[in-house]
Amino acid sequence: MDRNQLAQTAKQLVSPGRGILAADESTSTMGKRLKSIGVENTEAARIGFRGAMFTAQGWEKHVSGVILYDETLRQSVDGTPVPKLLASHGVIPGIKVDKGSKPLAFAEGEEVTEGLDGLRERLQEYHGLGARFAKWRAVINITDKTPSRYGIEANAHALARYAALCQEAGIVPIVEPEVIMDGNHTLERSFEVTDWIQRAVFDELHLQRVHFPGMLLKPNMVVPGYGSGQKTSAQQVAEKTLEVLRRNVPASVPGIVFLSGGLSDEDATEYLDAMNKAPGPKPWALSFSYGRALQHAALQTWAGKAENKAATQRAFLKRARLNGLAAKGEYDRKMESEAQ
Ligand code: 13P
Repeated sequence: MDRNQLAQTAKQLVSPGRGILAADESTSTMGKRLKSIGVENTEAARIGFRGAMFTAQGWEKHVSGVILYDETLRQSVDGTPVPKLLASHGVIPGIKVDKGSKPLAFAEGEEVTEGLDGLRERLQEYHGLGARFAKWRAVINITDKTPSRYGIEANAHALARYAALCQEAGIVPIVEPEVIMDGNHTLERSFEVTDWIQRAVFDELHLQRVHFPGMLLKPNMVVPGYGSGQKTSAQQVAEKTLEVLRRNVPASVPGIVFLSGGLSDEDATEYLDAMNKAPGPKPWALSFSYGRALQHAALQTWAGKAENKAATQRAFLKRARLNGLAAKGEYDRKMESEAQ
């Protein structure tokens, strides 16, 4: 393991004003996204949409890396292999390596992420294909009865096993414990569960000897459940999210890249901006690793039609640029109405 190389890659992924595009939807998840715009889930459609984003003019100013799905890492855009295309823009190729979450035995309503078997060999292959960072997502659901200590510990353990294997292979792990935003829970309950899983994850990362400067954390923001009816301001979200991060994330972790979790495009940008504007200590870079909040507008614009490519790229660039500004605390909601 080359610790300096890992730390350098991690730092590059959170260089000022840049963040990560999470374009790693599995084939079935991508099918749902395509269905929402009335497009059939074919290989050509999947690379058609993604290829438009990967060839947008100047996107590398705002995007440092892309998380790819296995299929995409092996595809080409106009004859250029995707990892080569990204690298030619100075964008680092990444890879989703988990195999999704399954019901956790004897734990109703809880899930655990699979994919550790054979991971060492898969990581070696991915490194050979050009991937320099990876993602593993753990899912934590909030209900009256969940999560349990068992659910928290099973997921934290798997995340750390994955992270150590990545670093051994020269790949920066993005550690993603996602507290799901669906549900009727309050902001306070979201804080409590996010605190619990982050503490458990960092305990396991310590135990399993993960090198903190060579990893990134991808957490949820602390928000009330979508069904709770509780209203919060961007400042409140920023305050609670920073509080939980300060309690749990060592200063030697170079960056925190948030997931968007179903937030509206504007909220995802505004909340990130509010954190970067907030007072108090912030020893890590705070940026984005958005899937839906970066691609939603572009996907709607594309609608499966090749002639919409330029407009798709404009829609993608607008969100990338605004999120890049939010990563520096320089966003203003008024910018939303400006021309793309
Ligand atoms: P969202 O930003 O849509 O939550 O996706 C990010 C991601 O990679 C979830 O695993």
